[in-house]
Amino acid sequence: MVAVAILAAGRGTRMKSSLPKVLHSLGGRSLVERVLESCLEISPTRRLVIVGYQADQVKTAMHSTSDLEFVEQHEQLGTGHAIQQLLPYLEGFTGDLLVLNGDVPLLRPQTLKHLLQMHQEHQNAATLLTAQLPNPQGYGRVFCNGQNIIKQIVEDRDCTAAQKQNRRINAGVYCFRWSDLAQVLPKLQANNDQQEYYLTDVVNLLEPVMAVDVEDYQEILGINDREQLATAYEILQKRVKSEWMAAGVTLIDPASITIDDTVQLQPDVIIEPQTHLRGNTEIQSGCRIGPGSLIENSQIGENVTAMYSVVTNSIVHAGAQIGPYSHLRGHVEVGSSCRVGNFVELKKTKLGDRTNVAHLSYLGDATVGNRVNIGAGTITANYDGVNKHPTQIGDRTKTGVNSVLVAPITLGADVTIAAGSAVTEDVPDDCLVIARARQVVKPGWRLKTRGEESMKDEV
Ligand code: UD1
Ligand code: CA
Repeated sequence: MVAVAILAAGRGTRMKSSLPKVLHSLGGRSLVERVLESCLEISPTRRLVIVGYQADQVKTAMHSTSDLEFVEQHEQLGTGHAIQQLLPYLEGFTGDLLVLNGDVPLLRPQTLKHLLQMHQEHQNAATLLTAQLPNPQGYGRVFCNGQNIIKQIVEDRDCTAAQKQNRRINAGVYCFRWSDLAQVLPKLQANNDQQEYYLTDVVNLLEPVMAVDVEDYQEILGINDREQLATAYEILQKRVKSEWMAAGVTLIDPASITIDDTVQLQPDVIIEPQTHLRGNTEIQSGCRIGPGSLIENSQIGENVTAMYSVVTNSIVHAGAQIGPYSHLRGHVEVGSSCRVGNFVELKKTKLGDRTNVAHLSYLGDATVGNRVNIGAGTITANYDGVNKHPTQIGDRTKTGVNSVLVAPITLGADVTIAAGSAVTEDVPDDCLVIARARQVVKPGWRLKTRGEESMKDEV
């Protein structure tokens, strides 16, 4: 039986932010959400989050995660003091407690699984995740005997110059036999540079306490300031991109591309430079996305191209061509083999299959059939200043260039709209519509202010 406790009460002074540190976003999810995800695989029976600084804000941000228990640490007197707050909550609990720092967001689930296994196999009182860091500055140094049994942990600021040479650091990830920890927690003292109760001091009171080195030290990097946040983002991106390349995705100029770890890609997708894939985006094989595109929370079918375009909360079916310079603003569905071209904006609009909106159009709240051709510059006038209204366009209909479709309006199938029409009334199937003033040509007419002389000049 395992309970997880996440330390999330600190302010994060070094972030210099009004937002609590653990709520800062790393690739679309907050630090503390990422920490929670890292322990999904060990299926904890209880998950406790210790909150303090701006507790309400942290709780609100996490309200959608079910079965969390929030434990308030009203004054932040250190990591040991934070864990002391669990005593009433875990009274009588007989399992192990996994403690995670809320600001260590890159842990792999397997790492935690391995730590827990080592802890249980060796029947340790406590097992700590440690790492050998090239630059251990800022971290607590871990001192062990030859058998990885921890003798002491000294915080960076409390270290002597000689102790600072030790590169083995405390990752802030701990497994405790709870019944043992509960007994020693009340004995912690705050005699250190910060006058805080350090959780790390329990290693002096428990036996045996074992150190387990993490294989990839990048996993345990803690976020204390904005620079570390940026470094963590780089690490995360490198991880995500390596995985996709190994899975058969081509990234052209990977450094210029960003991909959230929630995105799903199929083999033989090609991502061109300066492209950003975010949220719950899924892209099927054969697609070529970019250069210069942003795809967010969207489903993209096979063999789609999207060049210099922004696609948000939308679905694009197989073989469609998007862009250059298209904006699918949300709740858009583009049928298979459609062409959505230059400077076209679509919002809450569904296009059937093989329909083209190739140039300079805005369609909002529109339902468009199959094989429709939307002429250059066609605009739906969908908003009357108060309400939005729908437009329906039947199969094979063609709108002339610069048509205005004043919604609510329905155009049937096989309708042809003459160029420059302002269409205000519904049109049945198989009609030609000319909704513009007839051209008037007056022969021999000349501007009265001009005399014969100026006319001659112009010839
Ligand atoms: C801590 C460890 C250090 C380790 C490092 C790893 C201690 C004393 N030191 O140092 O050995 O190398 O993490 O990243 O534990 N928090 C509370 N309540 C408090 C104080 C802190 O909930 O009263 C939370 C913070 O929100 C944060 C976590 O505990 O999520 C760690 O606190 P922080 O101040 O960042 O500790 P470090 O100095 O990084
Ligand atoms: Ca920290």
